[in-house]
Amino acid sequence: MSLAPWRSPLARALHRNRSRPYSRYPQFATVRPDGRPANRTIVFRDFEAETNRLMFISDRRSDKLEHLKINPYAELCWYFTQTREQFRLGGKVAILETVGKEAESDQMRQKVWEKISDKARQQFAWPHPGKPRVSEGYESVELDEQTPLDTFIVLMLDPDIVDHLELRGEPQNRYQYQRQSDGSWKSLEVNP
Ligand SMILES: Cc1cc2nc3c(=O)[nH]c(=O)nc-3n(C[C@H](O)[C@H](O)[C@H](O)COP(=O)(O)O)c2cc1C
Repeated sequence: MSLAPWRSPLARALHRNRSRPYSRYPQFATVRPDGRPANRTIVFRDFEAETNRLMFISDRRSDKLEHLKINPYAELCWYFTQTREQFRLGGKVAILETVGKEAESDQMRQKVWEKISDKARQQFAWPHPGKPRVSEGYESVELDEQTPLDTFIVLMLDPDIVDHLELRGEPQNRYQYQRQSDGSWKSLEVNP
């Protein structure tokens, strides 16, 4: 599987903005069941090896999961402050949540679980996100480094449309990338 043409400008942006940790916190938009948009910040974890899929982690009980199960499309909006460029990546999201059914996706989920800190893992043992708060703090629980909690899910965004805007330069530059039905990519420079 070959890397999409937008991968190298995105890799360059991640590299050039690496001194700013928030460069890995894009916004992830979904569509609510009533058709209204929903948006939130999320941590970009990594690319799945040898694919163009971007990985994120989330809580199975969060609203975005309900949205994605009805409408699997999402859009990521990512602004890099150092280089002043924006990427918007839209496409379908796969949800890795199977427990014990699909060995491959389970393995992937486990690998990501192993990589995150215990502090990050603890959040998946907290009470249901978005429900009224009944306690001040949450007790830390003993968690197995190799066994993800059921609430832990991995989201895989597989972009089929990407828009890249560079504010730097006179004039600005803007590029669009669209995946074709045969899997190849069409790149087009457009007016900013
Ligand atoms: C800097 C930052 C990073 C975040 N990272 C994540 C993340 O990786 N995964 C996640 O599910 N929520 C993350 N959140 C919380 C979400 O923005 C959001 O509040 C939460 O997921 C509930 O969203 P939902 O109810 O729309 O599903 C992050 C928030 C901030 C401010």
